[in-house]
Amino acid sequence: MKKGKIILSTILVTSSLYFAPIQLDKTVEAAANSEVHQSKKAFDQKVIARVSEERMMEDVRYLSETIGPRVTGTEGEQQAADFIRERLRSYGYQVETQEFSIPDKLIGYLQTSDENEVLINIPEGSGDTSESGITAELFDAGLGKESDFTPDVAGKIALISRGEFTFKKKVENAVEAGAIGVLIYDNTNQPGPLNPSIGGDFSIPVGGITKVSGEALLEDVVSQNKTVTFKVKRMENAKSQNIIATKLPKKGANHDILHVSAHFDSVPFAPGASDNASGTAVALELARVLKSYPTDKELRFAFVGAEEIGLVGSEHYVSQLSEDEVNRSIGNFNMDMVGTSWENATAIYMNTLDGQPNIVSETALATADRIGTPSELVLYKRGASDHVNFYEAGIPAVNFIRREPGTANLEPYYHTPLDTIEYISAERLKEAGDLVGASVYSLIRK
Ligand code: BES
Ligand code: ZN
Repeated sequence: MKKGKIILSTILVTSSLYFAPIQLDKTVEAAANSEVHQSKKAFDQKVIARVSEERMMEDVRYLSETIGPRVTGTEGEQQAADFIRERLRSYGYQVETQEFSIPDKLIGYLQTSDENEVLINIPEGSGDTSESGITAELFDAGLGKESDFTPDVAGKIALISRGEFTFKKKVENAVEAGAIGVLIYDNTNQPGPLNPSIGGDFSIPVGGITKVSGEALLEDVVSQNKTVTFKVKRMENAKSQNIIATKLPKKGANHDILHVSAHFDSVPFAPGASDNASGTAVALELARVLKSYPTDKELRFAFVGAEEIGLVGSEHYVSQLSEDEVNRSIGNFNMDMVGTSWENATAIYMNTLDGQPNIVSETALATADRIGTPSELVLYKRGASDHVNFYEAGIPAVNFIRREPGTANLEPYYHTPLDTIEYISAERLKEAGDLVGASVYSLIRK
C-alpha cells in the first residue's frame, strides 16, 4: 500500500515536470504569491479593523470647534499642540516638543463709532498703531487710483475697493495722498475678510475686510461722517512648535525611519476642520493603532505648526534631523485636507513635488489595490504643503489631499470660516486612515 502511493506520486510529479514544467513553476509561484498576498491582506486588516471613524470625528470636533481657529503663534495653536502632546502621551509615546520662533505677527481690530466690530486681516508689511489705535473718518477712495484721492483724505482712513491693479499700488497712492490708514474691501463675496498682499513696508496701518463690510462702511460711516477706530498690534517674539512621537523597534539601532506628518495650525477665521484637523485626527488615530504592533523600522509622527505661514514648522523639523537620520529616512506620508465631504472631491490626490512616483505613492497604490480603496488615487505635481521640506532634504514624500478629479479643485470652504466639521465626512477620514495606515504598516512591520 505504502509503496504504491509513493510510486504513484513520483509518477505524477515526474510526468507533470516532464510534460509541463513551466506550468508547474507558474502554479507554484502563483500559490506562493497568493499566500504572500493573503498575508499582506491580513496585516492590512490588523490596521483597518482598529481605525475608528468616531475617534477621528471626535478629534476633528475638538480641534475645530472646542479650540477653533489655530492661527500660527496664537493661543489656539498652542492649545492644539497641548492637546496632541497629551494624547500621544496617553498612548504611551515618548513625546518631544520642538519650539521655534516665527516672524512678528500683526493683529488687527476695527470698530465703528456705533460699536460694530468688523473682521479684519492685517497683511505683512502693514504699519502698527499705539494701544488706543487711530480714530478717524473714512474717505471713499473708489479703486484707489491717484485720481480717486482729493486733499480731503488727509488725516482720514482711505477705504478702497479691490480690483484692476495691485494692492501695493493702492496703498502707495493712499500714503502719497496723506491717508493715515488704509482699509481694502473685497470685490467678490467671500466668507472671510480679504488678505491683501501689499509687498513693501508701510508705516501706516493697512487691513483687508469683506465686500459686505466695505459696503456697510460706505453706507453707515462714510455717508454719515462717522468714525472708526483701527488698531494694529505687533506681536513680537511669537513662537510655534512641533510635537513629535517616536516608535522605535524593540531591538537594534540605526533603523530606517518613516515619517508621518500633519500640520495642526489654521489660517485666521477658519476653524480648519478640513485644513487640517482632518490630517491631524487621522495621524493621531494611526499613532494609537500602530503603537502596539511589532515593527522593524522607526516610525515618527510629526505634528507640525506654522504651516500656513510658509511651511515653517516642517522646515524646522527637517532641519533638526542629523545627516545620518536623513540618510536613514525612507519616506514621508503627509496628510493635509483628507476628510472633506464636498461631493466633487471624489479623488485622493498624491501630490509630489516633481510629479514623479516614489516609494510612498507606489506603496499607497499597492495598498489601495489590496484593500479596495473606494476613491481614485491620482499622482499629481504640487507643492504647498509640508511634503515640500521632506522632498528638499531628499526624502521621498507625498501629500495626500482630497480633490476634484480632472480640475484638481479643492472644496469651496478652503481657508474660509466655512471650513467646519459640517463639511467633514467620517467615511472619508476612515478611507484616508485605512489607506495611509495600512501603507505605513506594510513598510515597517516585522
Ligand atoms: N492645506 C493646504 C494644502 C494645499 C495644497 C492647498 C495644495 C492648495 C494646494 C495648505 O495648508 C495651504 O494652504 N498651503 C498654502 C501654501 C503654503 C506654502 C502657505 C497655499 O496653497 O496657499
Ligand atoms: Zn493645510
